[in-house]
Amino acid sequence: SVNDRPTGQPPSATYDSAFLRACRREPVPHTPVWFMRQAGRSLPEYRKVREGVPMLESCMRPELVTEITLQPVRRHGVDAAIYFSDIVVPLKAIGIDLDIKPGVGPVVEQPVRTRADLARLRDLTPEDVSYVTEAIGLLTRELGATPLIGFAGAPFTLASYLVEGGPSRTYENAKAMMYGDPELWADLLDRLAEITSVFLQVQIEAGASAVQLFDSWAGALAPADYRRSVLPASAKVFDAVAGYGVPRIHFGVGTGELLGLMGEAGADVVGVDWRVRLDDAVRRVGPGKALQGNLDPTVLFAGPDAVRAKAREVLDSAAGLEGHVFNLGHGVMPSTDPDALTRLVEYVHEQTA
Ligand code: CP3
Repeated sequence: SVNDRPTGQPPSATYDSAFLRACRREPVPHTPVWFMRQAGRSLPEYRKVREGVPMLESCMRPELVTEITLQPVRRHGVDAAIYFSDIVVPLKAIGIDLDIKPGVGPVVEQPVRTRADLARLRDLTPEDVSYVTEAIGLLTRELGATPLIGFAGAPFTLASYLVEGGPSRTYENAKAMMYGDPELWADLLDRLAEITSVFLQVQIEAGASAVQLFDSWAGALAPADYRRSVLPASAKVFDAVAGYGVPRIHFGVGTGELLGLMGEAGADVVGVDWRVRLDDAVRRVGPGKALQGNLDPTVLFAGPDAVRAKAREVLDSAAGLEGHVFNLGHGVMPSTDPDALTRLVEYVHEQTA
């Protein structure tokens, strides 16, 4: 596979890409850049191909997935592609009745609240997501040396949607289960860890060169609760893909107090939002891990001079790091001017070449 480095042979161009080198904390020709949510509503070409196709259906059409995944690579010249899908796709694939409502997010018809509900979470098999294997096959041929990042939602973030039944600001039902019925909670997260592990394994075996675990909402938790009630399940996922040797990225929002634990869970690269400077984050994460981040996505609305100044600050805060992948601190917002993203990629490349 592209991720192996057979002894006595030159490494593949993908293995040697700036993105994968930075993830492995090796010297790079320039700081690699990609953006969370780089494929999506900020691009007119995305809105065009998505016209009339519901979000979850679009994730199951390999040609469409391939086109949407490639769009930001063509337009912005980013250093990595991220597989176009959603964190709830594996749950849909095992038959959970859910939908992604435009402008709202994932909505689950019957929330998972009891032990009887847990029985509805059956194992995921590679056959359930054969469209993923097919799309990644198409993609890796088109991408050439550009690495493809596979991804999944982490057990806590998936549980937050399953237990709440939809997006939430307080996670009151999920946290009530976590604090009030720790055994049921642990079993739920363990189930989700198994499903997530298979979903990531399918992506790696099909050709993904790195994986990112999105624990977007983990920042809602105190460190002690994260350690006790969430970290074991996320660690199980990272362990399940450790043997492939592909970089494992771990990301969440508002996780300043959790960065050390998120590294401990088994990540090679820790994603940082804009609230913590990277030179501070590296102390919190500890040695041996690369960092990804961390420009505030709203900076992109402030005009070219401000974008350059704030991007420069990110690069300065990363100057002493071994292993920096430039990204936003969270996803691209839908109303972002795509040209601002293209200029940002050029700026980071030019400043670090
Ligand atoms: O370019 C990429 O980053 C790959 C695509 C991607 C999507 N979802 C496509 C999508 C990725 C990586 C995700 C992950 C995801 N999905 C997360 C973790 C990342 C994060 O932002 O923290 C979460 C929490 C979700 C759940 C989810 N799905 C939300 C909150 C929403 C937005 C709802 C809305 O309409 O505002 C979705 C829908 C979704 N997933 C869209 C896209 C492009 C928008 C729907 C559309 O285009 O019709």
